Amino acid sequence: MRNFLGKSVAVGVIAALALTACGSGREEEPGGSDGNAKGFAANALIGVALPAKTSENWVLAGDLFTNGLTEAGFASDVQYAGASTTVADQQAQITAMITKGAKVIVIGATDAAQLSTQVAAAHQAGAKVIAYDRLITNTPDLDYYVAFDNFKVGQLQGRALLDGLKARKPNGPYHIELFSGSPDDNNAGVFFNGAMDVLKPEIDKGTVVVASKQTDVKQTAIQGWKAEGAQARMDQLLTSTYGNRELDGVLSPNDTLARAIITSVKGAGKKIPVVTGQDSEVESVRSIMAGEQYMTINKDTRNLVRQTIAMVKALQAGQTPEVNDTKSYDNGSKVVDTYLLPPVAVTKANAAEAYADDPKLAPLTR
Ligand code: BGC
Repeated sequence: MRNFLGKSVAVGVIAALALTACGSGREEEPGGSDGNAKGFAANALIGVALPAKTSENWVLAGDLFTNGLTEAGFASDVQYAGASTTVADQQAQITAMITKGAKVIVIGATDAAQLSTQVAAAHQAGAKVIAYDRLITNTPDLDYYVAFDNFKVGQLQGRALLDGLKARKPNGPYHIELFSGSPDDNNAGVFFNGAMDVLKPEIDKGTVVVASKQTDVKQTAIQGWKAEGAQARMDQLLTSTYGNRELDGVLSPNDTLARAIITSVKGAGKKIPVVTGQDSEVESVRSIMAGEQYMTINKDTRNLVRQTIAMVKALQAGQTPEVNDTKSYDNGSKVVDTYLLPPVAVTKANAAEAYADDPKLAPLTR
């Protein structure tokens, strides 16, 4: 899988974020005066096709979409791809949503590059398609993308890793290993590029050493974001490379993989390194408070779903949804109009503040 956010484009992410929102409240087409005529019925069906439940954020999203869409007066059809045949499942679910007459289809892609036929069919049927959290690639028919700033997530992880290493011993060289997410998820490469944007200069200087020499995204990828894949790769790296060496840090792209990496290191009787994460999963927040996992990223799913439903409401009213980035996400066929939300880095030091308004996580930080 190619990922379509190279380093040069990534600069655009930051630049574009500085721009104020554009497109808000514009008419669907120039000259249209009766916006509603171009929208759709207020109780129309909205389809939401989510991937397998590979992390807590997806589990949360399902309920939030069902409740939020119902509250907004829409009919909803929220589906998850099954754990094993994810691509075929999701393709069939989207096709069924089109048949049922969904006016908007929100998709958290199982495989970024395998949905162009379904997205084209949705368009043909007059439905709008919003890519949720993960970009859909190689299709000119995708209308919008809404996500947390994925490149920024990676940068925050890289920065926190360096901070954590320095806090443990003031001077390098530090020995680290790199992990990335599933190659079929466009986000995986973007997270990795963001982290490498921060880590690469230190690797080049020699202050940070990837002892296995596995620095390519392909070598570090964990298919399907599976915990067992990360644990097996960490076991293997410890055996091959860390017999007489200390492992100081690990770049882990999310919490599920971070906990698997920590399990592996503990199993080998080694000191837990500085390990990054993402998603603010309950078990990882507990681990951070217990001084094991070093950091995570807060991407509040409630905000992402709320933003997506705001897009759906705008489309219903015949308006153009608000976007704040029209440069960064080239999906190989077009640059997709995007709304990016800001991710937040969380360590033990700021957890109480970061989760203050999260009823599930706040109690864990007290
Ligand atoms: C999401 C992450 C999540 C991962 C695995 C990514 O696309 O952005 O939040 O950890 O998928 O489910």
